[in-house]
Amino acid sequence: MQKRIVVLTGAGISAESGIKTFRDDNGMWKQYRFEEVASPEAWHKHPEVVLDFYNQRRKNVVEAEPNAAHKALVKLEDYFDVKIITQNVDDLHERAGSSDVIHLHGEIRKARSSNDPRLIYPIKGWQLNMGDKGEDGEQLRPHVVWFGEPVPYIEPAMEITREADILLIVGTSLNVYPAASLFQYASKKIPKFYVDPDANAEIQIPNLKIMKEKAGSALPDLVPHLIDNYM
Ligand code: APR
Repeated sequence: MQKRIVVLTGAGISAESGIKTFRDDNGMWKQYRFEEVASPEAWHKHPEVVLDFYNQRRKNVVEAEPNAAHKALVKLEDYFDVKIITQNVDDLHERAGSSDVIHLHGEIRKARSSNDPRLIYPIKGWQLNMGDKGEDGEQLRPHVVWFGEPVPYIEPAMEITREADILLIVGTSLNVYPAASLFQYASKKIPKFYVDPDANAEIQIPNLKIMKEKAGSALPDLVPHLIDNYM
């Protein structure tokens, strides 16, 4: 039976692919107020502004490539049962080849009916516009979780984290709940690794090794270490 590695990822793992993080100096929330572009209120007030915000980000995602960090996690799958739980809405984990990815905050390359969340559609290219409708005749919206909306997969994510034998936390400021509380569901006894150049050294997580490095250089080193020492 392969050991289970759970990898909690955030915007930092895609930073070296040219996708902006949110709270770094040049982050997304330094350029936009999230209430104005990523909330149900914003959608109600000015849906075209929201669609344009996501179109710009989606174009960036379509043009981006997975980086060495995404690829290193794929390598782990040859030796471990790897479950990726990401806050990211990009599809770089999947495009790198990861086979088991949960998107806690949705997927930017998908759209859904603004009336029936079960009606989900892939977006061809990068544009989703006013007048694009689902089979129910309703305007399509980005298939992402906006501030104030529920996080549908948080329960299964907690269960998966509970069963982890090893936990990696990569490229997240651990600012946004409930995702930020997930690591607390991991057993106190298991080895944990936190990869973030700006990692908060005061963070109280038992059995944690902090790697204050970029994911693109840390993960290609960490993966062979895990294979050699924890298989
Ligand atoms: N490698 C690893 N980590 C990095 C890198 C890198 N190359 N570059 C930046 N980071 C780290 C930053 O130091 C920061 O701690 O990535 C983290 C990014 O934090 P945030 O910008 O807050 O992104 P994230 O934690 O994913 O935000 C969570 O907030 O706005 C919502 O829905 C949005 O999913 C997002 C959620």
